[in-house]
Amino acid sequence: ETYFRRELKLTGKKVVVTAGPTRERIDPVRFLTNFSSGKMGYAMASAAAEMGAEAILISGPVSLSVPSGVTRIQVESAAEMLEAVEAHFATADYVVKTAAVADYRPKKIADQKIKKQQGESSIVLERTIDILNQLGQQKTHQVLIGFAAETNNVSKYAKDKLERKNADYIIANDVSEAQAGFESDTNRVVVYGKNDFEQAFDMMPKQQLAHQLFEMIIEKETPYDR
Ligand code: CTP
Ligand code: CA
Repeated sequence: ETYFRRELKLTGKKVVVTAGPTRERIDPVRFLTNFSSGKMGYAMASAAAEMGAEAILISGPVSLSVPSGVTRIQVESAAEMLEAVEAHFATADYVVKTAAVADYRPKKIADQKIKKQQGESSIVLERTIDILNQLGQQKTHQVLIGFAAETNNVSKYAKDKLERKNADYIIANDVSEAQAGFESDTNRVVVYGKNDFEQAFDMMPKQQLAHQLFEMIIEKETPYDR
């Protein structure tokens, strides 16, 4: 395919990508998570490396191998993901938050397996830190790219997240659509940016889409230096 032969356009840049779900422990044998496969995030990291970037992939638990040229840091919880991202944020040029971070975690992690006889029928949860939101408050020169997987009102929710989290772009997809869900090898997205920027992409393989997304963003971010 042609996208493997494109010019290197991220040479000298550091791209930090988060991918996959997070896991929030309940006890030593149980956790809360979601259906994220990590495929889109791994495709983003792989594309960044192919385009010449130093690519750092901060990944929750998934069963994918490390893409060529990519440095992977494996994490489990939202708190660990935040810590790993923070360690690379100051020197990053692009931060791509593809990960499906758990929004809640158990308030207490039990030291021992919870037995059904003694167990309660509910688990007390607390909110995790919103990593993208935190980076949005801290950012200086970094281009901050978030994702939004929605099942309804896609554009409203995506624009909302763009503003609320101070991101530069939100890449939105409708996960209720066939062939655009978590486990799929293809995806169809709409990108939202500042000043009402909006661009729709066709349905295509995640790997090819990742290249096109970076090309679009690079072009918009460096209009006079190509
Ligand atoms: N995100 C994050 N930290 C969290 C939750 C989300 O960094 N604790 C990031 C995701 O990586 C993604 C973006 O925020 O880039 C949007 O995630 P999403 O789950 O769609 O948004 P939420 O703000 O959590 O809203 P909701 O789940 O209620 O739709
Ligand atoms: Ca969420």
